[in-house]
Amino acid sequence: SADWTALRELVSGCQRCKLCKTRTQTVFGVGNTSAPLMVVGEGPGADEDAQGEPFVGRAGKLLDEMLRSIGRSRADNTYIANVVKCRPPGNRDPEPDEVEGCRPYLDMQIQLLQPKLIVALGRIAAQRLLSTDQPLSRLRGPLHQYGKFQTPVFVTYHPAYLLRSPKEKAKSWEDLKKVWQHLHLGQ
Ligand code: URA
Repeated sequence: SADWTALRELVSGCQRCKLCKTRTQTVFGVGNTSAPLMVVGEGPGADEDAQGEPFVGRAGKLLDEMLRSIGRSRADNTYIANVVKCRPPGNRDPEPDEVEGCRPYLDMQIQLLQPKLIVALGRIAAQRLLSTDQPLSRLRGPLHQYGKFQTPVFVTYHPAYLLRSPKEKAKSWEDLKKVWQHLHLGQ
């Protein structure tokens, strides 16, 4: 936990990219630091920038429900972070240089956590994490691998997208079942 504290402090003073100029505060991550499941989103929005915690707005409430449906919560068995730790102004997509500037922090979080599975939420988080420009329709489904630990990665819809397109919730439920199976049955 000394490592987590040091990393959080390092991030809180970060000036590696231009997002530091417009943020209220960094949004490091939340959850259990020995969780087998890590959820990775895109970047903080206005609510997260104000509160300093990921996924606390409307999309966050839906994410909490999705996690609860597979017996997970940020309070105990899940860790939640974003590919960038600072809010992109006006909620634009994080730019490639911002994601690359922030990647060492994400990689250190993964190194400390060593999760059994990462779930990437939405096209931007998935494309940036996996360094690909494949569409979400192709990224959903197969198990990917990330980084030096070759951590398994599943990709699913972003909860903000599901709020706009509720008919996709059925497919998101299929993804969540696969997440459950991977965590509990290792398949
Ligand atoms: N959307 C994200 O991708 N991350 C957050 O933390 C909040 C909303």
